[in-house]
Amino acid sequence: MTARIIDGKAVAERLRGALAARIAGLSFQPGLRVVRVGDDPASGVYVRNKDRAAAAAGFDSATLQLPAETTEADLLALVARLNADPAVDGILVQLPLPPQIRQEAVIAAIDPAKDVDGFHPVNAGLLATQQPGLVPCTPKGCMHLLREAGASLSGARAVVLGRSQIVGRPMAQLLLAADCTVTIAHSRTRDLAAECRRAEILVAAVGRPEMVRGDWIGEGAIVIDVGINRLPSGKLAGDVAFAEAAARAAAITPVPGGVGPMTIACLLENTLEAALRRRG
Ligand code: GUN
Repeated sequence: MTARIIDGKAVAERLRGALAARIAGLSFQPGLRVVRVGDDPASGVYVRNKDRAAAAAGFDSATLQLPAETTEADLLALVARLNADPAVDGILVQLPLPPQIRQEAVIAAIDPAKDVDGFHPVNAGLLATQQPGLVPCTPKGCMHLLREAGASLSGARAVVLGRSQIVGRPMAQLLLAADCTVTIAHSRTRDLAAECRRAEILVAAVGRPEMVRGDWIGEGAIVIDVGINRLPSGKLAGDVAFAEAAARAAAITPVPGGVGPMTIACLLENTLEAALRRRG
């Protein structure tokens, strides 16, 4: 089998186009504020891409850049101002934060109704209890891609490789909500390859370049590769050895051009949802 390539860039463009059309019909511009502390170069590219995509779709978007030595109290004060600002619908504090700032304290300070990352414990709890809330962008983007790939989810054996708060755990919740039989596999799982091989749907989110080899892939599986790893050569690689996996899978996302563009599109989708919910 040679896998169909799931074109995340094209799906994300369509989603952003649909969001732009909905925003054009509103009497206000949904507001997004991205807060960045310090100037980690990798997140710089990400933040610029977010800004460009948000502006193009009609959002009122701005990045607030703070110095690397910002205190936790100063960042919490900024979050409180953004929580209180009626023009702001979505707040995203770029992670990771410098060591003097506790990430959990900052996430917990964001108004859950404006938490477009979906990282606040209230939103995590809403997802776990199948109630409407804001869903983390990357797993949400993966679900869009699975539906786009024509995956039949009900009853399917899905394996999520990785148990992070940002991707693995919410991904498992979304697959479960879609009636998959879900296994979360991780670094302590006894036989990772065997668990993965049983998957009809495999979502890899471990952050280790090309860890998932071709013989870990079940014949005809749908493979979603969340990993974006920079190799010593400078080239980007996913968590899945792409060519090997593509020889066995029915469909697979590339890196780059798979999940990555969907994360930003879903951030915008969350911002629009938050705006509509807040402003009625
Ligand atoms: N850093 C890397 N990915 C993310 C993300 O999805 N949200 C935030 N806030 N920071 C990140």
